Amino acid sequence: MKVATTIAETRWALDEVRREGGTVGLVPTMGYLHDGHLSLMAAARAETDLVVATIFVNPLQFAPGEDLASYPRDPEGDRAKAEGAGVDLLFGPDHDEMYPEPVLTTVSVGGLSQSMEGASRPTHFAGVATVVAKLFAIAGPCRAYFGEKDFQQLAVVRRMAADLSFPVEVVGCPIIREPDGLAMSSRNAYLTPEEREAAPVLLRALKAGAASVRAGERDPAAVTALVGQIIAAEPLAELDYVGLVDPATLDPPAGELEPGSYRLLTAARLGIPRLLDNLALMVPGAGPRRA
Ligand code: PAJ
Repeated sequence: MKVATTIAETRWALDEVRREGGTVGLVPTMGYLHDGHLSLMAAARAETDLVVATIFVNPLQFAPGEDLASYPRDPEGDRAKAEGAGVDLLFGPDHDEMYPEPVLTTVSVGGLSQSMEGASRPTHFAGVATVVAKLFAIAGPCRAYFGEKDFQQLAVVRRMAADLSFPVEVVGCPIIREPDGLAMSSRNAYLTPEEREAAPVLLRALKAGAASVRAGERDPAAVTALVGQIIAAEPLAELDYVGLVDPATLDPPAGELEPGSYRLLTAARLGIPRLLDNLALMVPGAGPRRA
């Protein structure tokens, strides 16, 4: 595995592979790698010729008072894990390489970045979209792998790539979980043992919401209320939001749930970290509401 710290050497390596007819798989991360990140690298490894993973803790997506300074870091461990996952090139720029000047140009995606995470963290998705746009511009034509763990981020990135005509195919990958159901996340490292034990409540609540739909519930407000009640009943958890939305537009349904697919999303604070989770929801019926 090669390690690059400059944009120029990364561009050069990827251009060379494409000149020879190869394809590029891009996996953007903020490091402190776990099996969720490694699953994206494995998918890229299986589907493309050169896998480039990036590690950059992007200050633009942290608001003042958030955990930028304390975000967990493990450069040595990350290097070994990325190499083990079959990464060819690890791009780990420092702050000045990515942002040599104060940033005057930002990318903001309207609509679908304003609800849920966007409501709780109003500057977050512009920070994500800006750094991902830079990474897409650095990488050039490629397939780019993102986790459904951050489902709203995936939708925002997809829309940004389409709106700005990036030559990038955005690929969504399933959530990797701990054996007890907790979605893997670098920020799980902040949980105390008691909070860690309570953390699977998010998935349990989402599953209860999905089960109520299977049992015939068609009122989206009743489903989100049930999920919220289960999380709120956990004394260590502080519920932030529950959303039940169209998986592509992230719009809430206008009325009752109709046959088709939806996404159920939630976020809750457990001690220091806010944990996110989400689940696909299928409403059975005569035929799919949409493909
Ligand atoms: P980070 O939180 O490091 O996540 C990097 C990628 O790994 C994201 O696409 C995320 O959705 C995916 N991921 C994290 N946990 C996962 C899990 N349990 N299962 C599957 N995929 C998982 O997301 C970011 O970094 C940043 O916002 C970034 C896109 C790199 C821009 O700075």
